[in-house]
Amino acid sequence: MSEHKLTILYGTETGNCRGLAQKVAAKAQKNGLEADVFDLAAYSVDQLAAVDNPVLVIISTWDEGAPPPKARKFCADLLSQTPDLSGLSYTVLALGDTEYEQFCECGRQIDARLEELGASCCLERTELGADFMVSYIGWSKKFWKRMAEVYGVAK
Ligand SMILES: Cc1cc2nc3c(=O)[nH]c(=O)nc-3n(C[C@H](O)[C@H](O)[C@H](O)COP(=O)(O)O)c2cc1C
Repeated sequence: MSEHKLTILYGTETGNCRGLAQKVAAKAQKNGLEADVFDLAAYSVDQLAAVDNPVLVIISTWDEGAPPPKARKFCADLLSQTPDLSGLSYTVLALGDTEYEQFCECGRQIDARLEELGASCCLERTELGADFMVSYIGWSKKFWKRMAEVYGVAK
């Protein structure tokens, strides 16, 4: 495992997930971790299969449970391909809005699929609604507490 690296993948339509990805990356740097940030619009399942450090996926849900449009290819490939992800450690931060019936459905599907492909979840998925800017703070504390255990770094 790359001992001091965190990979952050985000799927977004209006930029909320990208904004959170940037916040996590800034905090990672403060904690002495190298953060690689990728937009799922230009990321492949093969790239994911080659990652040997913890991965954080931040993704929103659109259009009755669908991934954000630019992340649809990655999500479809992940569902249809069968890479061996047994070496991968991951967590999912799902964004959505409780006003929609399929709340955070895309994040739920990605989480379930990563597990199905053998990846191990290092922190239970968190789902954030329309108040994500506020509820992010609680998630961030939980996330960095867990990362401190994973990497042995400051919170
Ligand atoms: C047209 C539209 C459809 C949406 N559909 C869903 C949905 O099915 N489920 C859900 O949980 N949130 C849904 N949302 C809420 C978005 O996921 C939420 O605004 C999120 O913060 C967007 O993040 P992003 O800017 O990173 O894409 C929808 C929002 C819009 C405007």
